[in-house]
Amino acid sequence: MSTSWSDPAVCKGFDDYDDLPEQVLGYSTIFKVLRLERPDPMVLLDYGCGPGKVSERVAKTFGKRVLAVDNSGPMLEIARIRRPHPLVEYLQIDDTLAGRVGDASVDGAMTCYVFINIPSEDRIRNIIREVYRALKPGAAYAILDTNPDTTGVQFSTFRNGEPGRKYGYGEPREVLLRVPGGQELVLRDTHWPKKMYLNALRDAGFQNVEIFEPTLSSFSPQELQPFGAAGVDKWQNERTTPPFVIFRAIK
Ligand SMILES: C[S@@+](CC[C@H](N)C(=O)[O-])C[C@H]1O[C@@H](n2cnc3c(N)ncnc32)[C@H](O)[C@@H]1O
Repeated sequence: MSTSWSDPAVCKGFDDYDDLPEQVLGYSTIFKVLRLERPDPMVLLDYGCGPGKVSERVAKTFGKRVLAVDNSGPMLEIARIRRPHPLVEYLQIDDTLAGRVGDASVDGAMTCYVFINIPSEDRIRNIIREVYRALKPGAAYAILDTNPDTTGVQFSTFRNGEPGRKYGYGEPREVLLRVPGGQELVLRDTHWPKKMYLNALRDAGFQNVEIFEPTLSSFSPQELQPFGAAGVDKWQNERTTPPFVIFRAIK
């Protein structure tokens, strides 16, 4: 059984999780490949926004408008209470954006740690087709997930799958997240090899698909400086082993 994101306790646990590795290695790369530093106005779709941490950062850091959508009521409740922002609109959706987000209406889109939560490839493909429909021609879509090639490695705050175990296509996989207070939040993900993402993106019509696998050693000291005080320099496995994978594709 996959993680229940309609369970308020799971949503609170995820909100409490300190997502520093995701910020340093994952979200920063997403922001770079979507070229959010561009000065032009932009509407960004955050598909599966959860508690709104990333949507709020995009609004605060880059001043972009964000359409933040999720199918979990409790997640959106946390987002609206804890991270309201005049540039962020939180919307509850089902598996479609129809009626909420028009054709060719957004300038960029991201899906962060959502597909590992969906055990059905058909549902993932539906979402990717919906994102394609919503994007303007030439706009970029970026997907961020835990890296299917580095399962079992203990990173500073999480472990994705059991050490030494090989996971098959679409197989369930447990993730252990360390949350403040020494607790562990157990999530039940699905193992999707990179080819699932590549095929789904290409079949939806996306072009120029690229893969990024950042490690700590691929960042300059200046890029890491804002995070320095938080103990990033003590990380071990993040130095050379990529915890995450990012796909960037163009409509
Ligand atoms: C691990 S959380 C990630 C939240 C956020 N993207 C982040 O990086 O902090 C996964 C989120 O995906 C949402 N989700 C899962 N399946 C979804 C679907 N089919 N449509 C919309 N949201 C979905 C869940 O409700 C949950 O809020």
